[in-house]
Amino acid sequence: MKIGVIGAGKIGSTLAHLYTAAGDNVAIANSRSPDTLRDLEHQLGRHAHAVTAEEAARYGDVVIVAVPFGHYRDLPAEALAGRTVIDATNYDPERDGHDDELEHGDVTSSELIQRHLAGAHVVKAFNAMRWDHLRDHGRSAGANARYGIPVSGDDPDAKWQVFDLVEQIGYEPVDAGALAEGGRKHQPGTEVYTADLWADTLRARIGIEGT
Ligand SMILES: NC(=O)c1ccc[n+]([C@@H]2O[C@H](COP(=O)([O-])OP(=O)(O)OC[C@H]3O[C@@H](n4cnc5c(N)ncnc54)[C@H](OP(=O)(O)O)[C@@H]3O)[C@@H](O)[C@H]2O)c1
Repeated sequence: MKIGVIGAGKIGSTLAHLYTAAGDNVAIANSRSPDTLRDLEHQLGRHAHAVTAEEAARYGDVVIVAVPFGHYRDLPAEALAGRTVIDATNYDPERDGHDDELEHGDVTSSELIQRHLAGAHVVKAFNAMRWDHLRDHGRSAGANARYGIPVSGDDPDAKWQVFDLVEQIGYEPVDAGALAEGGRKHQPGTEVYTADLWADTLRARIGIEGT
């Protein structure tokens, strides 16, 4: 699969390593230029290349957004239209600045990203585990138990795509529902956030029935 990654810091580069290791092709971008990502490009190997954010958006069958949440309005909405976008971000008011809508609990941060990316299918995933744990905790499909990754989104096909991608790097997807409800279940401040739960435990706490 072709995966675009926008944001090449701790979480974006970790996911890029995991997906290139799994045999996917990755185009990765930061806020500056591809030239500032040559070392990372070299480490990732032949399945990866550094690009601009716009190019990463157009490249990916699926595009992972791993930028500080406060920068979401910079995401190239037109280039992302029609694509599955994985929102790995979290709202952190100290870093991102206060957002009245989020403070009042009217919407989730992923819904704001979906609003900005009106033509895309936003799925929230990979936001609730620390980058170094995500790097280290994946297990093969035959393992007795695997860690769960909460996934929420409104488009069923996009969600299935993301379930497959979660499995590919050794985790079990747990369907947390739609962006509005599910996103709330696995955002910062919730009991599952960075709790590194086995999939069965995570499912019992936030999974929707039938999954
Ligand atoms: N760190 C974790 O363990 C973790 C775990 C789960 C979720 N998250 C969430 O994931 C997001 C990223 O966190 P992080 O820790 O990976 O941050 P980070 O290490 O600071 O990296 C942020 C990356 O985003 C890039 N970026 C910023 N604005 C951009 C823009 N407008 N267009 C393209 N790229 C842009 C930065 O590029 P430049 O360097 O060029 O500015 C940098 O490569 C945050 O929302 C965070 O809450 C983090």
